[in-house]
Amino acid sequence: MDTSAFLKSHIRTVPDWPAPGVQFRDITPLLQDPKVFRVLIDTFVHRYMDAALRPTVVAGLDARGFIIGSVLAYELGVGFVPIRKKGKLPFTTVEETYELEYGSATVELHTDAVRPGDRVVLIDDLIATGGTMMAGRRLLEKLGAEVTEGAAIVDLPELGGSEKLRASGLELFTLLDFA
Ligand code: PRP
Ligand code: ADE
Repeated sequence: MDTSAFLKSHIRTVPDWPAPGVQFRDITPLLQDPKVFRVLIDTFVHRYMDAALRPTVVAGLDARGFIIGSVLAYELGVGFVPIRKKGKLPFTTVEETYELEYGSATVELHTDAVRPGDRVVLIDDLIATGGTMMAGRRLLEKLGAEVTEGAAIVDLPELGGSEKLRASGLELFTLLDFA
């Protein structure tokens, strides 16, 4: 079994959660088994250790992006910065509001989290509509950083997010998809 299929076999699908009709792709079993967690993290580490792709900062999206992003940053020997849902960060922030399927959401980033010249890998567990990752990218770019790649474990291509992100010029690396 290849790595993608191996990791996929450890994702749990929960039907009708958090709302009827949603197939929730739960990554917690991936994290729970230490051998599987290591394969997951090592896959990202291997990619971003490469000199051409090595970032100066890893940015993680609230909240599941923190779990993999912080470990990745630690292994790469670079800093980790959290992009948080509004109202959680204590210092001065920049913010971005984006549309969800119903309503909208706002994410924030500390103004001193990155600097012009930083090369950032922006990571989350999953891409659905792509709105969260797009907002995170805008925040990092507002502060003058370059998002060299967006990364996620799971892509849900039917929701069009990954296509939209790539069409906007973002390089994207995902490990597996649920079509
Ligand atoms: C989920 C997921 C991504 C986002 C993807 O997070 O972890 O961050 O949705 O959706 P999108 O591509 O349509 O923006 P959620 O907002 O449920 O937050 P959580 O990580 O705190 O559970
Ligand atoms: N975030 C948005 N859609 C999701 C899904 N189907 N499973 C897990 N997280 C999600």
